[in-house]
Amino acid sequence: MNEFFEDIWRGLNASPKYMESKYFYDEAGDAIFQEIMNVPEYYLTKSEMDIFSSQSGKLADIIANQFAAFDVIELGPGDCTKSIHLLKELASRKTDFTYYPIDISTNIINQLDRTLPSIVPGMKVAGLNGDYFDMLDELKDMSTRNKVVLFLGSSIGNIPLENTVDFFKALKSHLSPGDLILTGFDLKKDPNVILAAYNDKAGVTKRFNLNLLTRINNTLDADFDTAQFAHAPTYSEETGACESYLVSMKKQRVRVGEVGWIHFDEGERIYMEVSQKYTTKQVDDIAVAAGFEPVHHFYDSKEWFMDALWKCA
Ligand code: AVI
Repeated sequence: MNEFFEDIWRGLNASPKYMESKYFYDEAGDAIFQEIMNVPEYYLTKSEMDIFSSQSGKLADIIANQFAAFDVIELGPGDCTKSIHLLKELASRKTDFTYYPIDISTNIINQLDRTLPSIVPGMKVAGLNGDYFDMLDELKDMSTRNKVVLFLGSSIGNIPLENTVDFFKALKSHLSPGDLILTGFDLKKDPNVILAAYNDKAGVTKRFNLNLLTRINNTLDADFDTAQFAHAPTYSEETGACESYLVSMKKQRVRVGEVGWIHFDEGERIYMEVSQKYTTKQVDDIAVAAGFEPVHHFYDSKEWFMDALWKCA
């Protein structure tokens, strides 16, 4: 609650104003994100599902050729609908592995612990509830086996490009030479396709962004009038940054609890989120800069999305 207030208050008093997209995901935000994944324009989930449903066998072969016994760690598994294809392929190869999904949500972890053993009979599952890096630290004491880390969905795209290599370096510090990591990267493509994915006709993504104002209202006793903010994503072909903004539709002021007022000019924007898009070359360069060796690129049939497999050097 305190950290939430401090982050929100700092962002609203900054110039330009911003919010941190990790705060999208309260209970209502989680549910709206599920809806986003089902809107026709949001191709990311469908493209990555295309990869997992058709190429998990090949991925399982590569993994099984490297290790006899290993851990599969998934950062932010959601309901596991993509990775389940890989887990089934690994299980059918009689490999010896334990699946460790890591998530900040207790709900998600409990549900996976409960449901997965009956979906992939015999598979060992041990959900870890907490921050990614804290849980990777804990795992060090639990297992010394080689690791295969899954970081899907282009969640990496929500980290600003200039911090991406540092993120992977931090991840690498929890791994050992030879460990594998598979990351989902959304690729640069027709700007209209990208913008439509973040501005769906049904207005679900708009609701997703406005939900953070509602969360602030409910949690910090603020009085944002969500009807007075428009949702406006932008995309730069040059940088590959798709940025989401909420735009004040009039000059207005918003009260935040007892703390004070935030003033908005007409047309003033709040920066909400970046969803970075990449080229294959850029992804390979990130791998090398962070100390990994690119092993394989898995593309969907439209080549809109890539899961990149890297080996820890
Ligand atoms: C979670 N993340 C990969 C999504 C994305 O595409 O950047 C979040 C999202 N924001 C709006 N739509 C989806």
